[in-house]
Amino acid sequence: HTHTKRHLWQQSDFQESFPKREVNSHKGNHGRGLVIGGSESMPGSVLMTTKAALRTGAGLLTTASVKNVISMIAGKSPEAMYISTSETNGCITGIDNIELSGFDAIAIGVGLGRSDETAKGIFPSLLQFNGPIIIDADGLYHLKPYLAAFASRQPPLILTPHPGELAALMDVSVSDLLMEPFKYSSEFTNRFNCYLLLKGKYTIITDPDGNQIVESSGNPGLAKGGSGDVLTGMVLAMVMQSRSIFEGINNACFLHGKSADLLVQERHSEQDLLAGDVIQGIPKAIRTFS
Ligand code: APR
Ligand code: MG
Repeated sequence: HTHTKRHLWQQSDFQESFPKREVNSHKGNHGRGLVIGGSESMPGSVLMTTKAALRTGAGLLTTASVKNVISMIAGKSPEAMYISTSETNGCITGIDNIELSGFDAIAIGVGLGRSDETAKGIFPSLLQFNGPIIIDADGLYHLKPYLAAFASRQPPLILTPHPGELAALMDVSVSDLLMEPFKYSSEFTNRFNCYLLLKGKYTIITDPDGNQIVESSGNPGLAKGGSGDVLTGMVLAMVMQSRSIFEGINNACFLHGKSADLLVQERHSEQDLLAGDVIQGIPKAIRTFS
């Protein structure tokens, strides 16, 4: 890896690469995104991913989940469209009714639950999709047997694990992973031809060639259930709007941390900051663009 680069992503990088909207743009120019996730016991996750994607500029957003989840969340995020999936016991078990080719990118995994039927009902169909796929949370839990198949797809694959999720995918211990996170990350993206966002105090983002970004924003107020689900929606939105996949991921992560940093400076403490607040803080973080 002699010609790969490592770089700390800062405000200036964000300002240089954040996508501007053309004056005559329309919603179709900013991406048609699909979020697949949620289950009856975890309805909030997919709501936060949906809202975060919208707040980060997705042109059109559709959320696919089980019926009861949709009825719980649709009124709380009315700008999105909703599709109900096949289900068993409140968990998604099939997405054959969704025309995937109508979307520019898909984020899958938050709140899915861990039933085998869920993975069997989703992954084989998803492998046919011909655009960027972002996999997070329970999607990563289910991924291992399908990983080689996803790696052999041509379009971008983006995984957003915390250390526990990546350690499980790589069959290493979390402590070994955290001793050499750069090395494990580049081994992984090289082997599976993907982008990897390894979460933490210093989130590390690696592209398929082994180029690596360290994120400079974020604080321990984010160490709470749901903040990862918010990030997933932001990655979906930014990947659809950016010049490159790598810049999109880097800026999504930057804005996520920046939102939390501004909120903790001005209105919240690290204790009381909630994942939902981080969504509300996105506008202010984006305004630091100029
Ligand atoms: N400093 C800065 N950023 C932090 C810190 C910290 N001390 N702690 C956490 N973060 C950031 C991470 O970088 C990441 O962006 O907060 C986010 C946490 O994401 P996750 O670990 O995915 O947390 P969460 O939203 O709780 O995910 C819950 O993930 O593991 C699954 O089963 C779990 O479905 C559940 C879901
Ligand atoms: Mg998570």
